[in-house]
Amino acid sequence: MIQVLFVCLGNICRSPIAEGVFKELVARKGLDHMIRCDSAGTAAYHIGSLPDKRMRQVASERGLTLTHTARQLSADDFEKFHYIMAMDESNFEDIRNESYQSTGQYLADHRLYLYRLFDAERGGAKIVPDPYFGEMADFIDTYNIVERSGAQFLDYLIETHNLSTDLGD
Ligand code: 4NP
Repeated sequence: MIQVLFVCLGNICRSPIAEGVFKELVARKGLDHMIRCDSAGTAAYHIGSLPDKRMRQVASERGLTLTHTARQLSADDFEKFHYIMAMDESNFEDIRNESYQSTGQYLADHRLYLYRLFDAERGGAKIVPDPYFGEMADFIDTYNIVERSGAQFLDYLIETHNLSTDLGD
């Protein structure tokens, strides 16, 4: 089983939508038995909360119901997850530093990624921007980014782990 963790700051906007969208992409390829995912935040502000209402609205308009409740990144995550996908550079640095504090070692490069690097249409952008203080358009933008990144990241996992997809598509 390949375990993937999506991480942002609050775990109420970017990482839960990344998780929800990726789960759906995995299911559509018939790979639920091979790939599992979860999400977490580096900060504790919103522990126990559902995703932001605006993010849930955008998701529901695309047919997706988000049920994740926010949790904070923990030491166990560095043992459990093979792929930890950071939404921005500040998340990336926080994860790296926390991994060192928790395990005495920095996470290996092949386990920690800036998720946006999988977006084929990113131009020069490296981060999934935080929509929290933005408008609805920013939430829609975040959704589109994590959808494109998810599609390419899934292709990467399929190729890297030589996964066979029963359903194709
Ligand atoms: P997220 O967005 O990291 O994508 O979940 C944020 C949510 C809440 C806050 C910041 C970012 N906040 O400052 O409370």
